[in-house]
Amino acid sequence: MRVSFTVNGEDRIVDDVWEGESLLHVLRERCGLPGSKNACEQGECGSCTVYLDGTPVCACLVAGGQAQGRTVRTVEGLADGERLDPLQEAFVECGAVQCGFCTPGLIVAAHDLLARTEGVPADPEIREALAGNLCRCTGYEQIIEAVRLAAARKAVSS
Ligand code: FES
Ligand code: FES
Repeated sequence: MRVSFTVNGEDRIVDDVWEGESLLHVLRERCGLPGSKNACEQGECGSCTVYLDGTPVCACLVAGGQAQGRTVRTVEGLADGERLDPLQEAFVECGAVQCGFCTPGLIVAAHDLLARTEGVPADPEIREALAGNLCRCTGYEQIIEAVRLAAARKAVSS
Protein backbone atom coordinates (compact mmCIF):
# COMPACT_ATOMS: atom_id res chain seq x y z
CA MET A 1 0.00 0.00 0.00
CA ARG A 2 1.00 3.61 -0.44
CA VAL A 3 1.28 5.71 2.72
CA SER A 4 1.36 9.51 2.59
CA PHE A 5 2.19 11.32 5.78
CA THR A 6 4.17 14.18 7.20
CA VAL A 7 7.45 13.46 8.95
CA ASN A 8 9.37 16.19 10.73
CA GLY A 9 7.54 18.81 8.69
CA GLU A 10 8.12 17.13 5.30
CA ASP A 11 5.45 15.44 3.21
CA ARG A 12 6.49 11.88 2.45
CA ILE A 13 5.04 9.17 0.22
CA VAL A 14 6.14 5.60 0.83
CA ASP A 15 5.09 2.85 -1.59
CA ASP A 16 4.77 -0.88 -1.09
CA VAL A 17 4.31 -0.74 2.66
CA TRP A 18 3.30 -4.27 3.55
CA GLU A 19 0.52 -5.16 5.89
CA GLY A 20 2.07 -5.61 9.31
CA GLU A 21 5.07 -3.40 8.56
CA SER A 22 5.62 -1.17 11.54
CA LEU A 23 5.86 2.60 11.48
CA LEU A 24 9.30 2.11 13.05
CA HIS A 25 10.41 0.07 10.03
CA VAL A 26 8.95 2.63 7.63
CA LEU A 27 10.79 5.47 9.38
CA ARG A 28 14.13 3.70 9.71
CA GLU A 29 14.31 1.70 6.50
CA ARG A 30 12.32 3.75 4.02
CA CYS A 31 12.51 7.32 5.25
CA GLY A 32 16.19 7.32 6.21
CA LEU A 33 15.49 8.24 9.83
CA PRO A 34 17.45 5.81 12.01
CA GLY A 35 17.18 7.91 15.19
CA SER A 36 14.28 5.89 16.61
CA LYS A 37 15.75 2.61 17.78
CA ASN A 38 14.52 -0.93 17.49
CA ALA A 39 15.39 -2.72 20.70
CA CYS A 40 12.47 -5.03 21.51
CA GLU A 41 9.80 -4.59 18.82
CA GLN A 42 7.23 -5.47 21.47
CA GLY A 43 6.32 -2.17 23.06
CA GLU A 44 8.41 -2.95 26.14
CA CYS A 45 11.43 -0.63 25.99
CA GLY A 46 10.32 2.73 24.56
CA SER A 47 13.46 3.14 22.43
CA CYS A 48 11.27 3.63 19.34
CA THR A 49 9.14 6.45 20.83
CA VAL A 50 7.97 9.09 18.32
CA TYR A 51 5.20 11.63 18.29
CA LEU A 52 2.15 10.63 16.24
CA ASP A 53 -0.17 13.61 15.84
CA GLY A 54 1.52 15.11 18.90
CA THR A 55 1.18 12.06 21.17
CA PRO A 56 4.17 9.87 22.05
CA VAL A 57 3.73 6.30 20.82
CA CYS A 58 5.89 3.22 20.43
CA ALA A 59 6.48 3.21 16.68
CA CYS A 60 7.10 -0.55 16.75
CA LEU A 61 3.47 -1.08 17.78
CA VAL A 62 1.94 1.20 15.13
CA ALA A 63 1.36 -0.22 11.65
CA GLY A 64 2.91 1.88 8.91
CA GLY A 65 -0.52 2.12 7.27
CA GLN A 66 -1.90 3.80 10.38
CA ALA A 67 0.29 6.82 9.67
CA GLN A 68 -1.70 7.61 6.51
CA GLY A 69 -2.60 11.31 6.52
CA ARG A 70 -1.01 11.85 9.92
CA THR A 71 1.91 13.76 11.35
CA VAL A 72 4.98 12.09 12.81
CA ARG A 73 7.84 13.77 14.64
CA THR A 74 10.92 11.77 15.44
CA VAL A 75 13.94 12.59 17.58
CA GLU A 76 15.58 13.97 14.43
CA GLY A 77 12.74 16.49 14.19
CA LEU A 78 13.37 17.95 17.65
CA ALA A 79 16.62 19.65 16.68
CA ASP A 80 16.41 23.01 14.96
CA GLY A 81 18.75 22.46 12.00
CA GLU A 82 22.24 22.06 13.44
CA ARG A 83 21.08 23.28 16.82
CA LEU A 84 20.14 20.54 19.25
CA ASP A 85 17.01 20.69 21.35
CA PRO A 86 17.88 21.82 24.92
CA LEU A 87 17.01 18.33 26.16
CA GLN A 88 19.46 16.78 23.74
CA GLU A 89 22.14 19.20 24.96
CA ALA A 90 21.33 18.44 28.61
CA PHE A 91 21.59 14.67 28.02
CA VAL A 92 25.08 15.16 26.60
CA GLU A 93 26.15 17.56 29.36
CA CYS A 94 24.89 15.32 32.18
CA GLY A 95 26.43 12.14 30.79
CA ALA A 96 22.96 10.64 30.36
CA VAL A 97 24.05 8.81 27.21
CA GLN A 98 26.11 5.65 27.36
CA CYS A 99 25.36 3.11 24.63
CA GLY A 100 22.70 5.52 23.41
CA PHE A 101 20.14 2.90 22.46
CA CYS A 102 17.49 4.21 24.83
CA THR A 103 18.33 7.89 24.29
CA PRO A 104 16.09 8.87 21.35
CA GLY A 105 13.00 7.42 22.99
CA LEU A 106 13.83 8.97 26.35
CA ILE A 107 14.33 12.36 24.73
CA VAL A 108 10.97 12.23 22.95
CA ALA A 109 9.22 11.13 26.17
CA ALA A 110 10.97 13.84 28.21
CA HIS A 111 10.23 16.41 25.52
CA ASP A 112 6.55 15.59 25.86
CA LEU A 113 6.76 15.92 29.65
CA LEU A 114 8.36 19.37 29.44
CA ALA A 115 5.86 20.50 26.80
CA ARG A 116 2.99 19.87 29.19
CA THR A 117 4.66 20.97 32.44
CA GLU A 118 5.17 24.40 33.93
CA GLY A 119 8.50 24.87 35.70
CA VAL A 120 10.69 21.98 36.83
CA PRO A 121 8.82 18.72 37.36
CA ALA A 122 9.45 16.84 40.60
CA ASP A 123 11.57 13.70 40.36
CA PRO A 124 8.60 11.32 40.82
CA GLU A 125 6.84 13.08 37.95
CA ILE A 126 9.91 12.68 35.73
CA ARG A 127 10.24 9.03 36.71
CA GLU A 128 6.58 8.39 35.96
CA ALA A 129 6.80 10.11 32.56
CA LEU A 130 9.82 8.01 31.64
CA ALA A 131 8.55 4.76 33.15
CA GLY A 132 7.97 3.23 29.70
CA ASN A 133 11.54 3.85 28.60
CA LEU A 134 14.14 1.31 29.70
CA CYS A 135 17.85 2.03 30.04
CA ARG A 136 20.29 -0.79 30.73
CA CYS A 137 23.34 1.42 31.22
CA THR A 138 22.95 4.60 33.22
CA GLY A 139 20.98 3.72 36.34
CA TYR A 140 18.67 6.61 35.39
CA GLU A 141 20.21 9.23 37.72
CA GLN A 142 21.95 11.18 34.96
CA ILE A 143 18.80 10.97 32.85
CA ILE A 144 16.69 12.49 35.63
CA GLU A 145 19.37 15.14 36.12
CA ALA A 146 19.33 15.99 32.40
CA VAL A 147 15.56 16.40 32.38
CA ARG A 148 15.77 18.62 35.49
CA LEU A 149 18.48 20.74 33.87
CA ALA A 150 16.57 21.20 30.60
CA ALA A 151 13.39 22.04 32.53
CA ALA A 152 15.23 24.61 34.68
CA ARG A 153 16.72 26.27 31.60
CA LYS A 154 13.34 26.31 29.92
CA ALA A 155 11.74 27.89 33.03
CA VAL A 156 14.41 30.64 33.12
CA SER A 157 14.07 31.46 29.41
CA SER A 158 10.25 31.56 29.35
S1 FES B 1 11.36 -1.20 20.09
FE1 FES B 1 9.41 -0.33 20.40
S2 FES B 1 9.06 -0.49 22.53
FE2 FES B 1 10.97 -1.48 22.22
S1 FES C 1 22.39 4.36 27.56
FE1 FES C 1 22.48 2.25 27.05
S2 FES C 1 20.42 1.58 27.29
FE2 FES C 1 20.40 3.61 28.02
